[in-house]
Amino acid sequence: MKNIQLNIPVEVVDFNELSDADRQLVELAREATFRSYAPYSHFCVGAAIALDNGEIVVGSNQENVAYPSGTCAERSACFYAGARYPDAKFLTIAIAARDTDGEFVDRPIAPCGACRQALLENELRAGHDVRVILTGKDQLYILPSVRSTLPFAFTEF
Ligand code: THU
Repeated sequence: MKNIQLNIPVEVVDFNELSDADRQLVELAREATFRSYAPYSHFCVGAAIALDNGEIVVGSNQENVAYPSGTCAERSACFYAGARYPDAKFLTIAIAARDTDGEFVDRPIAPCGACRQALLENELRAGHDVRVILTGKDQLYILPSVRSTLPFAFTEF
């Protein structure tokens, strides 16, 4: 028997340590939370994706009374990017959330498994790492790739 260990590098930064481009992306993700439709969970998530054609696409969670029919912010941004700019490659995604009290979450939230898988598809399509910025009120986590958020991804087998 042998053990293997997987390590995920996470950069923990303050908002004011971000580059101008990353700061703008985070602001857009935060803004997008105000366009979320979350009458059931009251948890508002926003995502902003920077593309290699210079465009930024945003998305927010859109719920439905038939709960599984709703979509997370990350996938709404991800699929919108594919529908609007099919040839553009993803560079970075920023994700923000406001809790049921309406305030931005203190600690960063991470995309659900389904969103990680959908984002990974776009990382593979891009042919390079897509950075992931998870935002809390003060501290942010920067991950170097979608792949790093999804060890043992389906595509590996
Ligand atoms: N949600 C997202 O939009 N992204 C995530 O990464 C996790 C959860 C949404 C789904 C649902 O509308 C609400 O947050 C509560 O789970």
